[in-house]
Amino acid sequence: MKKLLLSLAALALSSSALGQGNNYAQNYTKYENLAMTPPMGWNSWNKFACNVDEKLIRETADAMVSSGMKAAGYEYINIDDCWHGDRDSLGFIHPDPKRFPSGMKALADYVHSKGLKLGIYSDAGSQTCGGRPGSRGYEFQDAQQYAKWGIDYLKYDWCNTEGLKAEGAYKTIAAALRKAGRPVVLSICEWGTDKPWEWGPAVGHLWRTTGDIYNCFDCVKDHGTWKSWGVMQILDMQEGLRQYAGPGRWNDPDMMEVGNGMPVHEERAHFTMWTMLAAPLIAGNDLRNMTKETLAILTNPEAIAVNQDKLGIQGFKYSTKDSVETWLKPLDNDKWAVVFLNRSKAPQKVSFDWKNTPIVDDLSKKELNAGKTTYKIRNVWTRKEQGNTKKTFTATVPSHDVVMLVLSGDKAKVAGK
Ligand code: GLA
Repeated sequence: MKKLLLSLAALALSSSALGQGNNYAQNYTKYENLAMTPPMGWNSWNKFACNVDEKLIRETADAMVSSGMKAAGYEYINIDDCWHGDRDSLGFIHPDPKRFPSGMKALADYVHSKGLKLGIYSDAGSQTCGGRPGSRGYEFQDAQQYAKWGIDYLKYDWCNTEGLKAEGAYKTIAAALRKAGRPVVLSICEWGTDKPWEWGPAVGHLWRTTGDIYNCFDCVKDHGTWKSWGVMQILDMQEGLRQYAGPGRWNDPDMMEVGNGMPVHEERAHFTMWTMLAAPLIAGNDLRNMTKETLAILTNPEAIAVNQDKLGIQGFKYSTKDSVETWLKPLDNDKWAVVFLNRSKAPQKVSFDWKNTPIVDDLSKKELNAGKTTYKIRNVWTRKEQGNTKKTFTATVPSHDVVMLVLSGDKAKVAGK
């Protein structure tokens, strides 16, 4: 009897689904084949906070091209919080008419005309963190509006979400983006609270692993009810997460503070560690007005290649000694990136006996064994060859700085690289 009832129910379900063209079936998963390497772009928040308008966005798109950042791989121009105006009587959201008088469609057209993509920001709750209209209850309408405007990337925040559960809320916006029909990169921004690395890979393309970054190398900023975190603090919070990352799914340690006032060596160390983490490289500085040192850091092609390596394996901390951390990242084609990061306030000597230090990455099973293979050594920041792994490597790493190397093994040689 139970069986009969069950099959009757199944029949009823399938015929109603057929009859209605399956209108109610939602697809709660992300668009596939986007962000197969960590997304690269710019976001307005770290430097401009709520001071966003169409002039800034256009000028930033211009600067991304004229500075050479686009040629280096940067692609997304992302407007963060505070672009919003009101909802109309039907509930559709519109940009602030004073800040964006030409409208979002015109802005997207402009950004696209430069060969770039436009990103926008919303929030799963009733209001954004900056107190603008949130998407709660308006998810499908907002996604439709973004598709109409030509938006390519959505950062979706987590303020004012009382009573919501993160996984379900992010699945709702993923379904809304699907229904709207325009492929959009979904950047999950719930600060790592509900372990987004566990459910995020199916729902979005990247997920914030922590609270907000703060523009310092090694400090914590206490805002009373919440804290923001320096570069080193964020780095430490990435521990245990690398197995969740890969093509199309990235841990996001937040947008970069490179170019926002840290000394050059700290900017270099910050950028280097983001490349090693296979982190999204989202610049957070004023692209219209940056020093040549900042630009050189953001556009170093060899560091970017480490980040954008097609295997998408997040790097790992191999060892720590005297405040110097050794980080490794397996790369395609028998290459490895190696970083010595000096976290102390004084310069530190490092030495590494490659030949007698065989290394196997537990996760990828890749092996760096200089006893078997001689690797050529390339210094990513001096942009010079630096011998091979037959000899013990020695260097002095200045305080809050890095030495970054790429080792190329036999297969890389065969491939002519
Ligand atoms: C949160 C996010 C930030 C930024 C602001 C905007 O704090 O984590 O990255 O988007 O909101 O209000």
